[in-house]
Amino acid sequence: MQKLGYPERTVELTRIAGYLHDIGNCVNRVDHAHSGAILAFDILKDMGMPVEERTEIMMAIGNHDEKTGTAVNDISAAIILADKSDVHRDRVANQNLSTFDIHDRVNYAVTNSNLSLDAKERKIRLELTIDTEICPVLDYFEIFMDRTMMSKYAAKYLQIWFELVINGTKLL
Ligand SMILES: [Fe+2]
Ligand SMILES: [Fe+2]
Repeated sequence: MQKLGYPERTVELTRIAGYLHDIGNCVNRVDHAHSGAILAFDILKDMGMPVEERTEIMMAIGNHDEKTGTAVNDISAAIILADKSDVHRDRVANQNLSTFDIHDRVNYAVTNSNLSLDAKERKIRLELTIDTEICPVLDYFEIFMDRTMMSKYAAKYLQIWFELVINGTKLL
């Protein structure tokens, strides 16, 4: 957001939304975007944040899940791009390979993940290295197709072009 020239306060609100975006998981994984949005709204109210600002954050958190949300404001678009690009081996808490589900396997197969923004060209690029011995690229799409499309739309919302490069091949 900084690189795109947003005001410092918007950058700060985006940081806060990013920090709080998954807070709803303390209620339940199901509908965590919605419960989290309401929780954050209350917490930020108690902390004295003006209603206009905490509404922006509530909207961003409430729309970050690919099943129910989409980019609805600039902050939400930034949160989506960051959150949906968060795929990496480090995310896998399960250490037992024999009990991996497809999510574990796909994340585990991603040995390198890099999201980079070219603000001048208005391009954002997600580059992944997937170990195809662990999982075929198609498995990645089986899980991440919705998230990829959500990222593409979020980028469009910010008038940025979204690119996806997997193992050196530009797929989007
Ligand atoms: Fe989430
Ligand atoms: Fe998240």
